[in-house]
Amino acid sequence: MNQLFDISGKVIVVTGATGILAGGAAKYLQRNGAKVIYLGRNQERVDRAIQDAREISDDCMGLTCDVLDENGLKKGYEDVLNRFGQIDALINGAGGNMPGATIGPDKEIFDLDLDDYTKVMDLNLKGTVIPTLAFAQAFKEQKSGCVINFSSMSSTQALTRVLGYSNAKAAIDNFTRWMATEMATKYGDQVRVNAVAPGFFISKQNKALLTNQDGSFTERGQQVINKTPFRRFGKQEEIYGAIHYLVSDSSSFVTGTVLAVDGGFSSFCGV
Ligand SMILES: NC(=O)c1ccc[n+]([C@@H]2O[C@H](COP(=O)([O-])OP(=O)(O)OC[C@H]3O[C@@H](n4cnc5c(N)ncnc54)[C@H](O)[C@@H]3O)[C@@H](O)[C@H]2O)c1
Repeated sequence: MNQLFDISGKVIVVTGATGILAGGAAKYLQRNGAKVIYLGRNQERVDRAIQDAREISDDCMGLTCDVLDENGLKKGYEDVLNRFGQIDALINGAGGNMPGATIGPDKEIFDLDLDDYTKVMDLNLKGTVIPTLAFAQAFKEQKSGCVINFSSMSSTQALTRVLGYSNAKAAIDNFTRWMATEMATKYGDQVRVNAVAPGFFISKQNKALLTNQDGSFTERGQQVINKTPFRRFGKQEEIYGAIHYLVSDSSSFVTGTVLAVDGGFSSFCGV
């Protein structure tokens, strides 16, 4: 393989690794020679992910921890260092929405459930900040390493309904730039922080919002397709290349960016 894209031997922690996008990316990275730590909050699902991962190689490890559990993450950090001796990348894939934090078609804006709003903000923002503070400690010692966050189309454009999620993802863009600047200024030009901003990929969370049981699009799904020049949703594997690029040395002068992987959604005004 081209040296620029060689990621073999890199130790990569992936949160949300039992989910669709981050889970798929974790296996992809491992298939390309990385040592991958699958972090999820549900023991059974982590066990299942590790069972699959062992079919790729033994260079994998499961960590069961909530991304909001500071102490659990600190312990996870020690466990990873004890097993692999270093950490080269952290992928903050955990995130998502919950119904109370959205304004459904039958709801008023003023019906927003503030508890759910706070939970969604916490999961998507603090659930990225806290793991970064835990695992990027290694980058300070090593003077090298990278973080990849998950942003969204909703961080820069108003998507109807999803208020808490949008607010948190906008903050992720800001955190990406802020952390990129601070880390590089303090620890040098081999510590990088970037984000991917997926367009619309079908996942467990949005499947019912975007597609009907017979596979046809819901009204919202059709609206998304209309604003996507490629006229389709993303396929899970179409996020892997962006992550590979950001983890590898081919992006050695890239930090503080939010890379859209969206079939043109963010470029197109819809008309
Ligand atoms: N699917 C899309 O179209 C899309 C678009 C833009 C952004 N994203 C973002 O991509 C990331 C991955 O999303 P996905 O579509 O694969 O969803 P997913 O639901 O399949 O994966 C999310 C994972 O996060 C985990 N998680 C949730 N709360 C957690 C917690 N407190 N602690 C630890 N883990 C927790 C879930 O268990 C799940 O495995 C998310 O940040 C999401 O917001 C997805």
